[in-house]
Amino acid sequence: MYVLTRCFMRKVSAVPHTEMLRNLLLLLLCQLSTYMPADAGKVCGRPPLSDEMDPAGFQRVYEVGAEVFLSCKPGHTPSKGSRRVICTASGKWTNPTLKCEPKWCSVPERLQHGDVEVTDIKFRSIINYTCHDGYVQHGANMSECLADGTWSEPPPFCEAVTCGLPEIPKHGKIIYSKPFQGNTTVFGDGVTYECMPPFALLGNVRGSCTASGNWTEMPECHLVTCPVPPRLDNGFISFAIMKEHGYKERVKYGCNIDYILDGPTEIECEKTGKWSSLPVCRAPCRIGITRGRIFYDGRKIWIEDLKPNKILHGERLAVYCKNEEKNCGYPVPMQCVDGTAAIPECFQEPSGIQYNLYSKKLPSEIKMCT
Ligand SMILES: *[C@@H]1O[C@H](CO)[C@@H](O)[C@H](O)[C@H]1NC(C)=O
Ligand SMILES: *[C@@H]1O[C@H](CO)[C@@H](O)[C@H](O)[C@H]1NC(C)=O
Ligand SMILES: *[C@@H]1O[C@H](CO)[C@@H](O)[C@H](O)[C@H]1NC(C)=O
Ligand SMILES: *[C@@H]1O[C@H](CO)[C@@H](O)[C@H](O)[C@H]1NC(C)=O
Repeated sequence: MYVLTRCFMRKVSAVPHTEMLRNLLLLLLCQLSTYMPADAGKVCGRPPLSDEMDPAGFQRVYEVGAEVFLSCKPGHTPSKGSRRVICTASGKWTNPTLKCEPKWCSVPERLQHGDVEVTDIKFRSIINYTCHDGYVQHGANMSECLADGTWSEPPPFCEAVTCGLPEIPKHGKIIYSKPFQGNTTVFGDGVTYECMPPFALLGNVRGSCTASGNWTEMPECHLVTCPVPPRLDNGFISFAIMKEHGYKERVKYGCNIDYILDGPTEIECEKTGKWSSLPVCRAPCRIGITRGRIFYDGRKIWIEDLKPNKILHGERLAVYCKNEEKNCGYPVPMQCVDGTAAIPECFQEPSGIQYNLYSKKLPSEIKMCT
């Protein structure tokens, strides 16, 4: 306005008489000069933009005092600051305070029978989907976080591999771990195999539907026989026919009188065609002393009163020894082990005279050590 006024003044003074053409020329010159150096420092260029700000829609030049509103790029949202910047008199924009942040997509849900690989859920992040072994993937294997904050792909579906029905071994049967319907089984389904005796199972007892869509190898049922059951020393077969036996058949054993059965009372024909281990008949013991007193079956008795002189395998009794220093007696235990009852070393068998005439002085009769 100021420049224009000055110009008109000059125009008036420089033209004494009215001549249209000259006037017009002067006016033109004057107007040109108003746009020249006087205004050069007083415009702003494009406003300063950060990488996250939208560069679209700006002019190259703005007048002093112009107001511009910045915005965030697609996929970003303003987080703080003001969107407004102003072109100042010095030809510079006020410092922008706007901050733009990438948009966030929702946290992806867990995938049933699969995995979701996630490092970030910001705009442009990629997540990966995989199905576990034994599951077929239907759908995308990756998904991208889009500018509108949604995922590009829905999560895939992991479908279990299916197997047909497992074969049933000849002379055997299968037991399903859980009930099912129809003609298909799915990955992880299991069965147990059994053979009908005298057939024995050779192979894996358990089977399952594998990730490759077939069943694990089926076992076989083999005919098994065991030889005539063996004899038992000092014992007998109590219930059996002396013939070959089939798988899982059993034979019972017993021991002769006074012998103690050590081990199982029955043996079984095993799948290897051999009998399980045989028991043993353990022999009774004779107590190898002729003079002395013993403690047996809760009573203190003279050895000649043990009739017959015999204890069974595993039974215990005590003989008496003497502590010479303290002149007292004490019991020492001994045990029958399969026909042998070792006499304790401290036991001294008395002579006939000592036994018959001085029996009150035997270790079993004097005061007991405490
Ligand atoms: C997704 O898979 C690609 C290619 O296999 C890999 O480069 C990227 O790191 C994976 N992303 C994640 C989040 O694991
Ligand atoms: C994802 O699927 C595409 C085709 O659908 C395939 O080319 C790419 O190898 C797959 N990536 C992975 C990591 O499985
Ligand atoms: C099973 O398979 C048999 C023969 O393949 C078929 O006849 C039958 O209808 C099937 N049953 C079911 C329940 O799918
Ligand atoms: C199951 O199928 C896979 C791949 O086809 C094969 O390698 C494997 O030997 C099969 N297993 C049985 C028990 O047939």
